Amino acid sequence: MERKKIIAIYPGSFDPITLGHLDIITRASTLFEKVIIAIAVNSEKNPMFSKDTRLKMIKEVTKNIENIEIDKFSGLLVDYAKNKNAKVIVRGIRALSDYEYEFNMALMNRSLDESITTTFLVAHQKYTHLSSSLVREVASLGGNVSNLVPPFVIEELKRKINE
Ligand code: COA
Repeated sequence: MERKKIIAIYPGSFDPITLGHLDIITRASTLFEKVIIAIAVNSEKNPMFSKDTRLKMIKEVTKNIENIEIDKFSGLLVDYAKNKNAKVIVRGIRALSDYEYEFNMALMNRSLDESITTTFLVAHQKYTHLSSSLVREVASLGGNVSNLVPPFVIEELKRKINE
């Protein structure tokens, strides 16, 4: 399939990036000319990893995907998208329960800027139960997360937990 000449943004906290995120990034990279993975730094969440470590992890685990850019943003997502000339926001849907939150966010973003379209990609069924906070919890209690995050992220989790 020919990639559309559209720049897309995949925003999130990525604390840390998981195989579920990677699945969405890989799919999005086949659909759009460029995908900007945008780490939200003013999120209300209290992150485990600094924004620079989150960026480093994303960079490492996506190094084989050519048409992506990794960045951090603060402020409104639609303003950031406009600055980057991005017309599409990509979000992953893991289960029906994600939909209501995502639907409201998409409508809010549309009311803020009509020119930006949100598109949903369905997460792989292997990852429907997965979230970054579950990964952090399981890893910090000594559980095995090797089927949930890339090896590089496992090393960073171990480093953080042993700090
Ligand atoms: N695989 C695995 N996990 C996934 C996933 C997938 N495919 N898709 C979502 N998740 C998980 C994440 O791991 C995260 O888990 P956690 O809550 O345990 O950390 C959770 O789903 C949702 O997080 P995320 O996708 O990172 O989104 P978010 O809700 O933290 O942030 C922003 C959403 C950053 C896009 C939004 O807050 C935003 O746009 N902020 C900027 C300010 C703004 O414009 N606000 C108005 C928006 S209407």
